[in-house]
Amino acid sequence: MMQNSYRHLQVNERGHLTIEGQEALSLARRFGTPLWVLSERAIRERCGAYRQALADFWSDSAVAYAGKALLPLAICRLMDEENMWLDVASGGELYAAQAAGFPAERMMYHGNNKSIEEIRMGLVAGVGRFICDNFEELDRIDELSRICDHRPSVLLRITPGIDTRTHRYIATGHSTSKFGFHLADGQALRATKRVLSSSQMRLAGFHCHLGSQLTDVSSLLHGVEVMCQFMAEIRQVTGYIASELNIGGGLGIAYTESDRPPNIRSFVQRLTSTLKTALHRHDLPAPRLWLEPGRSVVGEAGLTLYTIGSIKTLSADLTYLLVDGGMADNPRPALYQARYRAALAHKAAVKGTETVHVAGKCCESGDVLIHNVCLPTAQPGDILAVFCTGAYNHSMASNYNRLPRPAMVLVNGKDAQLIVARQSYADLLCGEIIPHRLSARNQVAAGQ
Ligand SMILES: Cc1ncc(COP(=O)(O)O)c(C=O)c1O
Repeated sequence: MMQNSYRHLQVNERGHLTIEGQEALSLARRFGTPLWVLSERAIRERCGAYRQALADFWSDSAVAYAGKALLPLAICRLMDEENMWLDVASGGELYAAQAAGFPAERMMYHGNNKSIEEIRMGLVAGVGRFICDNFEELDRIDELSRICDHRPSVLLRITPGIDTRTHRYIATGHSTSKFGFHLADGQALRATKRVLSSSQMRLAGFHCHLGSQLTDVSSLLHGVEVMCQFMAEIRQVTGYIASELNIGGGLGIAYTESDRPPNIRSFVQRLTSTLKTALHRHDLPAPRLWLEPGRSVVGEAGLTLYTIGSIKTLSADLTYLLVDGGMADNPRPALYQARYRAALAHKAAVKGTETVHVAGKCCESGDVLIHNVCLPTAQPGDILAVFCTGAYNHSMASNYNRLPRPAMVLVNGKDAQLIVARQSYADLLCGEIIPHRLSARNQVAAGQ
């Protein structure tokens, strides 16, 4: 059933799906559904794979885990233990990372529209790098850093104008992107001069991120070449030689059998070999290399367990399995037609015989988690596992239809710990206020 990258998932002698040896069925019974389940081993393996590959192919390098993929406090702790840097992209992500005790000096602070308050938070915390996106941000950092008496290290986010083969909503490095300083119109050069002329900001180098879920990494390799060409031009015009280059995240994962991304090691090998050649071509010294992966660190490590509530057959080839979650816990299929695989937890080794659609319980016709998945015959009450939900599910989840967010469990061998509690209905009302005049009317109405 599973390929190599899913080694934490197995089918036991009873034909039941297991995660690090724990039965999915008993996790569902113990913690309820919908339930996000993460394999700690799978996450640590991927952190290790990035670290090892970089150590082997580019000794002056580091990996920043992109927290936007998944950022519960326990994951921040895990990333700290794994000696990763952390990419945080908002005041909220920075706050969470600090609450978990993640050292600010190992944080990359992103965000394409950081507020003054968010910039101040980063300066006070002493984040390791500001990744700057626009001129207003540079002005604000310059000014606020004087007040805070802190000289921040800055990487400029460059938009090289490269198209990627991915969904357009997760492509970021193209010529019409809202992100970064564009190369084509000279913004990137102007921004470089702007930081170099500042007595407050220290320009550490450049950053680019082309897009996400890239299974064909040729655009990333092209991005490396374009960035080297840019660094050579900057040296020629300003004399500045970048000491750091961050080429972002983006490596795709195998959501379905047709997704065939390279593994982490061969990706890093190809990338660093391209970088070496490009640097040589421009006679540039080797910069410190950063990677910033999110999806490829946590995506495959996660799965979601749902209970099938109803089964609705409309015709011979149209059956819906209706599950107790949906677009509120996983908006990706509705947002950008993301595709997933699934299995019945108690028949994980049984070959599928029926092609069905897995639909959620939200009031949207677009709330279909999987179109056309081939499964063994299912019954109401069965537990359905949807694979590869570790990235951009919990972090993108909503309370649409006032659905409480699922719980999340971290499995570590025989141990399974709750790391995010299931929301209660009371949690859903947190922060809501009925203005006095409305309460009074309600009371009158109630008293009549
Ligand atoms: C700036 C930046 N870095 C890193 C990432 C992580 O990308 P991925 O999860 O595809 O590795 C993203 C994702 O959108 C991003 O915007």
